[in-house]
Amino acid sequence: MAEISPSLLAADFYNLEKQIKVLEENNVKYLHLDVMDGNFVPNISYGPGIIKCLRSKTDMIFDVHLMIDKPERYIEDYVKAGADIITIHEEATNHPLRVLQQIRETGVKAGVSLNPGTSLSVLDYLWDELDLILIMTVNPGFGGQSFIKSSIDKIKKTRELINENNTNILLEIDGGVKTTNLDTLNNIGVDIFVSGSDIFNSDLEKMKEKIKYYYKNI
Ligand code: DX5
Ligand code: ZN
Repeated sequence: MAEISPSLLAADFYNLEKQIKVLEENNVKYLHLDVMDGNFVPNISYGPGIIKCLRSKTDMIFDVHLMIDKPERYIEDYVKAGADIITIHEEATNHPLRVLQQIRETGVKAGVSLNPGTSLSVLDYLWDELDLILIMTVNPGFGGQSFIKSSIDKIKKTRELINENNTNILLEIDGGVKTTNLDTLNNIGVDIFVSGSDIFNSDLEKMKEKIKYYYKNI
């Protein structure tokens, strides 16, 4: 069964506890944590301190998406903060294979993310060290952007590659996923749908309705 991974980037930080409770009460398993450094992407979000603080409050699966240059410098920090999955960008390091190994050696699951402009061929020699592939369906850096339509073909191709190489690898998509475009995305082999603004930019009752809609339609 597919899952959603709500992106905390869009949350109302003043009401974080209430919003996370709504996720938990509605059986959402993953929490997507977007880390941005102002270098790899123009925006800055939050770091291990916030993640560590949340770790003591919830058992959700922490799906940490590092949009930072040279992520190898910070893997240990995010492991210590309580990440369950750490996804790095292939474009952010000279040594993606080594960083994936570095993550797995800690016992945490390793993911690689590809920008919309990055070819799937970069996956060619990473297969042995992957637990998850994250296909960006917007250019990374900001929530609330529109889904890039050409990503649909890329997602389908990624699914074929996963089926050929290792079906244990999870396929996640991130950016512009909404209840209103889900019908074009729900039958193409995605395991985890990240959704930020669509879920969090609502009152608590609406959040609940949206989550229910996602689970009925993925
Ligand atoms: C973008 C982030 C996304 C973002 C998704 O760089 O990686 O996770 O928060 O937000 P929405 O769902 O609003 O596009
Ligand atoms: Zn993300």
